[in-house]
Amino acid sequence: MKKIGAGRQALVGRTTELRLYDEALADTEGRGFAIYGPPGVGKSRLADECLRIGASRGWNAARATATHGASAVPFGALAHLIPAGVTTDDVAAVFAGIASGLDGRRGKGTVILVEDIPLLDRSSLIILQRLSDAGKIFLLSTTRDGQTESPDARALTRGFGFRQVSLKNLDQEQTHYLLRSLLGGAVSRRTSYEMYLKSAGNPLFVRELVIAALDSQTMRNDGEVWELTPAAEPDTTTPQLADLVGTRLSALSPPTRALLEAVSLWRRRRRRQRPVRGRAGRGAAGTRGRGPGTGRSGRAAHPRHSGAPRVRRGVAPEHAGFQKEAAVPEPGAGAGRTRSATP
Ligand SMILES: Nc1ncnc2c1ncn2[C@@H]1O[C@H](COP(=O)(O)OP(=O)(O)O)[C@@H](O)[C@H]1O
Ligand SMILES: [Mg+2]
Repeated sequence: MKKIGAGRQALVGRTTELRLYDEALADTEGRGFAIYGPPGVGKSRLADECLRIGASRGWNAARATATHGASAVPFGALAHLIPAGVTTDDVAAVFAGIASGLDGRRGKGTVILVEDIPLLDRSSLIILQRLSDAGKIFLLSTTRDGQTESPDARALTRGFGFRQVSLKNLDQEQTHYLLRSLLGGAVSRRTSYEMYLKSAGNPLFVRELVIAALDSQTMRNDGEVWELTPAAEPDTTTPQLADLVGTRLSALSPPTRALLEAVSLWRRRRRRQRPVRGRAGRGAAGTRGRGPGTGRSGRAAHPRHSGAPRVRRGVAPEHAGFQKEAAVPEPGAGAGRTRSATP
């Protein structure tokens, strides 16, 4: 059976973000680049690419790992950058010790990547602020939507000289390219469209759906293209996907969640009331074979009827409605545009 995940997939999209990063890195006043976005949208992937680009431009590259555990330990995230023999109770010595190892080539400093910067311990934040003020570092950071930044962290993500980007999910075409990259070959338009509807273009969702579909052998290659078997769609959920949906839900405010539940309930009722005519849809332009929701499964032709990832046992039943809706893109990005999709 085909396995994905070995090796790195090509970075899909993000050209605007990389251009902004390039400009910020080249700017003599540039201090940092802060990446925001929901879980799975690709913050770490983009940050890795930024680090790689920095290294190719002559910067030294380093990482600081902020975790809940390390946040209680002074300089926990920067410990690996402190030279041996320097004691952490002498802040000036810690600063000097770290600074001495940060010079890059051609007069450049170090691009330092801090993932989940809101979790960084305060002493590390202070040292990073000083290193930034001294022009020793260019700070790359990631922050998950919903994480609260302390004033010290905000100074290092939104202060003078810092550029911010808020990552959005991939669009339909980019999802198609991600699927091709994950599967290492051509993917039918119908399949990539269905994966787009289920994942809403979230790269981690896409990846998890592909893994689940390969595991359950509902994604097959007929020697030419990869196709998702329409009848087996409800099996395309993995524990990680369900966990992610749970995280997204917990980040929502109660009124938003209540609204989504109400909308979801209303839609489900309407679907139940609407007679299924079995009208054959054409699906996306260039679709090979049957269009979404047509044929074998006997469901209505509308792509939304192809179903969303099923709710895993760990997800509270009251979230089930939102999970279903979460996989449906914003109005205008979905079925209405199906026929004008590029092949
Ligand atoms: N633009 C992209 N192109 C290709 N793969 C991507 C892209 N963005 C994310 N991925 C992949 O999707 C998965 C989730 O991305 P990740 O960067 O870990 O998300 P986040 O840090 O926002 O939670 C990873 O396997 C990553 O390699
Ligand atoms: Mg990440």
